[in-house]
Formats: sequence, structure tokens, C-alpha cells
Amino acid sequence: MSKPFRRRHDSADLEIEVDGARIPARTGESVAAAMLAAGIAAFGTDPKGTPRGPACMMGSCFQCACTIDGVPDTRACRVSVTPGLKISTVPMRAPARTTQVPVEIESDVAVVGAGPAGGACALALAAEGLRVALIDDNAAAGGQIWRKRFDAEQGGGAWLRSRLTAAKDRIDHRAGYEVLGRGADGALMLADRDGRGTISRARHLVIAAGALEVPNPVPGWTLPGVVNLGALQILAKADGVIPDGPVLLAGAGPLLYVVAHDLVVSGVRPVAVVDAAPWPSIDVLKALWTAPGLFRQALKYEWKLRAARVPILRKTRIERIERNGEALRVSASGGRRFDVAVVGTSLGLRPNIELAAQAGVSLAHDPLLGGWHAHVDAQGATSQSGIYAIGETRGIGGVEAALCDGVITAAAIIEAEGRIPSTELARAASAARERRAKFMHAARVLGNWARADMPAGDAASIVCRCEAVTRGEISRAAAMGLSGPREAKLATRAGMGFCQGRTCHPAVQAAIGADEPPSYRFPLRPVRADAFGAHR
Ligand SMILES: Cc1cc2nc3c(=O)[nH]c(=O)nc-3n(C[C@H](O)[C@H](O)[C@H](O)COP(=O)(O)OP(=O)(O)OC[C@H]3O[C@@H](n4cnc5c(N)ncnc54)[C@H](O)[C@@H]3O)c2cc1C
Ligand code: FES
Repeated sequence: MSKPFRRRHDSADLEIEVDGARIPARTGESVAAAMLAAGIAAFGTDPKGTPRGPACMMGSCFQCACTIDGVPDTRACRVSVTPGLKISTVPMRAPARTTQVPVEIESDVAVVGAGPAGGACALALAAEGLRVALIDDNAAAGGQIWRKRFDAEQGGGAWLRSRLTAAKDRIDHRAGYEVLGRGADGALMLADRDGRGTISRARHLVIAAGALEVPNPVPGWTLPGVVNLGALQILAKADGVIPDGPVLLAGAGPLLYVVAHDLVVSGVRPVAVVDAAPWPSIDVLKALWTAPGLFRQALKYEWKLRAARVPILRKTRIERIERNGEALRVSASGGRRFDVAVVGTSLGLRPNIELAAQAGVSLAHDPLLGGWHAHVDAQGATSQSGIYAIGETRGIGGVEAALCDGVITAAAIIEAEGRIPSTELARAASAARERRAKFMHAARVLGNWARADMPAGDAASIVCRCEAVTRGEISRAAAMGLSGPREAKLATRAGMGFCQGRTCHPAVQAAIGADEPPSYRFPLRPVRADAFGAHR
């Protein structure tokens, strides 16, 4: 087995330097994609010295952090290649920098997330005459589902991107800006890709931060070459980088099939799809049928996988991943074994609530909608005055429900401004309420079908990737009487690393035997201390 990933088209047009060696790269792709395509799977080591590699490719896990052009702890999946870029997988000290003066931006509404929910909300608000700051950490609008393709001028979500451009006099789209948190004065603190601070002030805040994947922490899940399902999709879609050897997809949830389909379309035939869920029941099929378009979509995936002769193993779970020479040996229930180059695995989606939680929004728990989510009323209003949550932040409901949320909450904000929504918006919001109900019903049925428990693992298996904390260490903390989730976390540092538990929260909770909501503090993502140096 050679290198686990390759570029889909031989289109490298520049070179970058990794640990002193020159490697080919393609304009537009991320540093992480270029390194993977060059056969570099380990991006440094965890605190115990074990090699680690990218897991999410969406900026949330920090497993790809390297020193890039002298800046340590930079996520390689968030930096685009430029000629001569120098990367070191060995940690380095940050060079001194003069204190930054943060830029300030003002708008009527700040919308965080330019996916279907945030995009639809921004467009509806702008059409009613409000000024919107639309903030998103990706280079192009579209969120996860409509991520801009490496080989297409526009691709899925083209309508959203062109409408946002047409409305640019009212919508200030801050692409590539990460929201680090909300201050006590209500202002949002942002950092651009160079780590420069920006402060965004607005009367209303809409959180449309989407979803994160639920990890599948089987022993071996941290080995380089084992990535989230979504990471394979991002690599193929946004970077044109695909697995170069046998790939196994495992876990639970609809994303398993979406990614299998996308890989087949990209010319990669997975060796198998290992699904923890059983065959869809009549109830699942009925729910898909009643939500317009979902049944057709499910059939399309099924047909594509059958036509490509991809075996689908239901009610089967992977139990362990080990290195076997250059390959990854995966053991699954029923005594099955696979030797592959790449494993894509996760146990579904969960709401991304980091900003909502940091801003003090009340949370609620619904296992059918992905667990902890922002608690909202029918208009998307949260427990905090002036803060709304829409799309997957309020529960995993899919793209159609997210689009509906955007319109419903836009109408609520116009009313909160003391105005009457235009006839067009009022009609759209009323239709969206009806449509949303159908998709949320389907989402709950699908959520129930695809529910999968955290794997039991063993004492040596890592639960928290950033701090390399094992299940055994957590058990020992419990044996010492540190049985409360908070105490066990403080004693072991589980969930307290760079990612603040974004990756491992469900796994840490399962290991501790609790189900507490995650807590997040400012800054949500690490930022240089001088980014807001001049701000009081
Ligand atoms: C990895 C992944 C892949 C998916 N692929 C598919 C698919 O192929 N098909 C499908 O039907 N569904 C897919 N989904 C589910 C899909 O995301 C939703 O159904 C739909 O896109 C939700 O829309 P949304 O607007 O709520 O969130 P999203 O589309 O996720 O948009 C949220 C946006 O907010 C940004 N964001 C989050 N936090 C911050 C922050 N602190 N600062 C700045 N920006 C931030 C995110 O980067 C993202 O661009 C996927 C989900 C994930 C996590
Ligand atoms: S792979 Fe870059 S942050 Fe997860």
C-alpha cells in the first residue's frame, strides 16, 4: 500500500516545504490536503508522543495543527497553500508581533454561519432593508452541504452565493472569519485567517453554526489515516483529494451514505459501508416519503452504491483499528476484518452549540435531534434577549429545515424591530412553518433509526484526543473518588485541550458516565493574545 491519499487530477502547480522537504501542492487546496496527497499522514504527535493526523478537515479538532510560516499551532486544514509556504510538524515558539488594533464593524443583525440557515436568514433580512454582518469561517458561503467544489466555478449553493453577492450593499459577508465568542457588552469577537481581531456590534445575533460529527472512539480511532466521514467529503469536494487505497466507511447516520455516494461519484469504491443501524423500518420509509425529496434522495444513494457493488453491512460495528504494516486493520462485529489505507468513521451529527453555550443561551437535550441543542421558541428566539438560534444549532433537522428556520427567524426579527414583515416575507414564513414540521418529523424518525451508543473501548483507548487521555485514566480518577464529571475532567484534563471538547465531548461524557452539556469559554478557538490588544 503506498500513500493513503492522492489528488483526483494530477494538477499540482506549486511547491510548499514540509519539515525541510519540498512537496507538490495545487492552488486553492488546503495545506492539510496537500500534505495528505503527498503521503504525509502524521502531522506531529499528541502530548504522549503518539503520531496524530487530521480528523475533521473543518477546523474543529486541532489534530492538524502545525507551525506554518513561523506561526505555531496553526490548523493546516484552514490555511490555503501559497508558493514557498514553510510548514513544520515540530512545535515552535511564536515570533513577536506588534499589538493589533481590532477593526470594528456595525450592523443591525450579526448572523454567524453562512450555510443554508444563516444564508437564508441574511437574504430575508436584507430584503426587508436591514444591514447584516454574515460571518463564516469558510472561504465561500454554503456551509457544509454546499461547500464550494475545487473543480467548479460555483457548484451546489450557487444560487446562495450569487444572491449574497447581489445583496452586498446590505450584507457584509465576512468569509474566513471565526467567531471567538460574545463579550459581556454583546459584541462578537472575530479573528480573520491571519489571526487579526475584529469586533462586530449588532442589535440582534443569529447563531446558525451548523453541526459537528459525533466521534466513534473505538480503539485506534486516533491513528493517522482514520478520519471523520465528513473529512473525506471535504477533501474530495473542496480539495479534490481522495483515498488512494482501499477505504472503509463505518459508523451510523445518513452521512455514511452521503459520503459513500460522493466517493463513488469521485471514482473511489469503498470496500464496504459498515452501518451500526438496522435496515430502515417501514416507519423510516414513511417518514422519508412524507418529507418532500428525501425518499428520492435516499433511493439515489442506494442505487449508486448497489450499481458500484459496494457491500453494505447493517447492524455491524467496527470494534478496533490497528496498524498492520502500512495498512490499517479494522476488526468489526461478526468477526469481519478489513485491511485498508483509510477509514472514515463517525456516529452521526450533533448540533454545534459552542457559541450559544458561551453566550449563555439555555440548552435542551433531545437524543433524536443529536443531543444538546440551543433551546428556542417557535421563532428561534433563545433564552437570551436578542439572540436567536437556527438550523442545526437548534437540532439536527437537515438542509430543508435549516432553510425554513432562516425565513421564520428573519420575520421574527423584523417584528422585534417594531415593524410588520412585508407580505412576501410573512407568506414565506408561514409556508416555512408548515414545511419545517414535515422535515423535523422525518429528522426525528431518522435520528431514532440511526442512534448508536458510544463504543465501550478498553482501558488503553484514547477518549480525549487533544490531551491523549485514556479511558483507563478516567476510570482511575473515578476510583479516587473524583466521580463527578467536572472533577474527573479537571483531574485528567479530558475535554480541556485546544478543541475545548468540540471533538470528544460525547466520548468523555460516556466514559465518565454522565450526559452534561458542554461548556465553552472565550476564545472558542485559540487566538494570539495580541489580536485584541487595543480593545478595552
Ligand atoms: C461535515 C458535514 C458534512 C455534511 N454533509 C452533508 C451533505 O453532504 N448533505 C446533507 O444533506 N447534509 C450534510 N450535512 C448536514 C448539513 O450540514 C445540514 O443539513 C445543513 O447544511 C445545515 O445547515 P446549517 O445552515 O444549519 O449549517 P451549516 O451548513 O453547517 O453552516 C454553518 C456554518 O457556520 C460556520 N461556523 C460554525 N461555527 C462558526 C464560528 N465560530 N465562526 C464562524 N463560522 C462558524 C460553519 O463553518 C458553517 O459554514 C453535513 C454536516 C457536516 C457536519
Ligand atoms: S483536521 Fe484541521 S482542525 Fe480538524
